[in-house]
Amino acid sequence: MDNTQMKNIQWFPGHMTKTRRMIASNLSLVDGVAEILDARTPLSSHNPEMDRLIKDKPHMVLLNKSDMADEPSTQKWIAYFKKNNVVAIPIDCKTGKGIKSFLPILKTRVLNETIQKRISQGAVGMPIRLMILGIPNVGKSSFINKMAKSKKTKVEDRPGVTRTKQWVKIDDGIELLDMPGVLWPKFEDQKIAVRLAFTGSINDDILDIEALSMKLLTYLSAKYPAALVSRYKIQISDDDSGLDLINKIAIKRGMLLSGGEINLERAAITIIDEFRSGKLGKITLELPEDFSNG
Ligand code: G4P
Repeated sequence: MDNTQMKNIQWFPGHMTKTRRMIASNLSLVDGVAEILDARTPLSSHNPEMDRLIKDKPHMVLLNKSDMADEPSTQKWIAYFKKNNVVAIPIDCKTGKGIKSFLPILKTRVLNETIQKRISQGAVGMPIRLMILGIPNVGKSSFINKMAKSKKTKVEDRPGVTRTKQWVKIDDGIELLDMPGVLWPKFEDQKIAVRLAFTGSINDDILDIEALSMKLLTYLSAKYPAALVSRYKIQISDDDSGLDLINKIAIKRGMLLSGGEINLERAAITIIDEFRSGKLGKITLELPEDFSNG
């Protein structure tokens, strides 16, 4: 049981409506849409309006940061998307793993009809245009940079900061349309907001980092206890609360204030940082079955 009290996360970025409008008005310029999701939080990092926004445009899903997600869970997600008639592939923009399969899969499984139509119309030289969408921090710039094989796109956007669209030419007669980030419009479901906070998709300034790290520890002790034991060399018992766990870690790491009290804030920041940088191992934060009851 976790006795952590956490205030609801509230964040409504002002540019959301503008972004929605921009996506709608640029859709006629592209042949398809690639939505980048975080492999650790595929549905939490998916904007629920996406399907309505992109209408019947061919689209595919790129499960990015797959290097940080656990592989059997990523396979479950790929099967989930397949069941929903969406082609999904795991990619890792850090090392480039999976990137090579993107273009062949796009051409043969997503835009095959469009390409065939172009061939039959004798318009083979026309570039294929693809809109790239995803919430901030999911890896859009990293993906586009990898595809463009140069540092054309800045990789410095902060969650909640607006930027403008840009076209990026890549090999093979393909052009990518990089759109500004779209974030989950309503944090009605706090579970989703918390998962996005774990991965750093929500601006840290608005978060209670201690409560967040206790929630993360509670999740990890239930789903990935070995990761905690191996990283922090602590003993875990079933009834440990988030506070118990953070205390154990702080003590183990010698994170104490001058009076000998535990430095909770320092421990919390460390735990969140280590999780986000992958030091705790490959961890997935949600599975398709977590969403089966709405
Ligand atoms: P965005 O355009 O969607 O906002 O995301 P961006 O590409 O800026 O990526 C956000 C952060 O995620 C970056 O880290 C980036 O390096 C990291 N990232 C992107 N793709 C992957 C991936 O497949 N695996 C892993 N492990 N990380 C990925 P950062 O800390 O903001 O910058 P830096 O580490 O590159 O300096």
